[in-house]
Amino acid sequence: MLFIFPDVSSVADYVSDVLINTIKNKPDMVLGAATGGTMEPIYAHFIQQVRQQQVDVSRLVTFNLDEYVGLSAHHPKSYAAYMHQHLFQHLNFNTAKLYLPDGQAQNLEEHCFEYSTRVQHYGGINLQLLGVGGNGHIGFNEPGTSFDSRCHVVQLSEQTRIDNSRFFAENAIVPASAITMGIQDIMDADEVLLVATGISKSAIMAAYYQNDVTEAIPLTILKRHPSAKIILDEAAASLLPDSVRQCAVSLAT
Ligand code: F6R
Repeated sequence: MLFIFPDVSSVADYVSDVLINTIKNKPDMVLGAATGGTMEPIYAHFIQQVRQQQVDVSRLVTFNLDEYVGLSAHHPKSYAAYMHQHLFQHLNFNTAKLYLPDGQAQNLEEHCFEYSTRVQHYGGINLQLLGVGGNGHIGFNEPGTSFDSRCHVVQLSEQTRIDNSRFFAENAIVPASAITMGIQDIMDADEVLLVATGISKSAIMAAYYQNDVTEAIPLTILKRHPSAKIILDEAAASLLPDSVRQCAVSLAT
């Protein structure tokens, strides 16, 4: 299902609504969390709405998609620090139920296996939030990643390191590798919300609709997900052909 909103703020409102409704229906839901610039306004709106509606998030379980290898949870550029800054510290989460891959695990392969297993132990992800890289990566599953993949260590592409250098002082210190949940882990989620905003995502979103499912563009696997919502602002939707735009769900009342 495709949703196109006029701007980032209305995207964030909609995604927060879906999240809050899911939590109200299932207070111990398992949320698959993402990081990155796209998620910042989403978490900000979510925090605001949770406070306004006095939603209890203390029973929520969260599993983040990815983490840089080599960064401790206390490193300011780690995704653990991002989650603390943009979401966790603001609400009454139970910190024992907030999981991220450990970028400093002694045995990374073993850690990845345990991470996927722990997700399954909780019964799988109920709602997976996803952003998308300019090259079509989801999580840190770069182009060419097998659709069968589970949590694994990945070498980040040069493009991804350049894209993410904006969060670091200089490109040289963007870590070369990361742990990511695999494509199969993502596809196992009951529901997926793929969010893309801004002109920099317009080409990859057009490519999503113009290509068949292919490992060369990991994003395309979502065409096979039974309950994936593609949520865009006008800028990210600006290169979509009219035939696709006409299929967007209208939420106008
Ligand atoms: C982050 C993640 C990545 C980002 C993607 C888009 O946890 O898994 O796939 O969602 O790189 O990043 P932004 O939102 O910064 O453009």
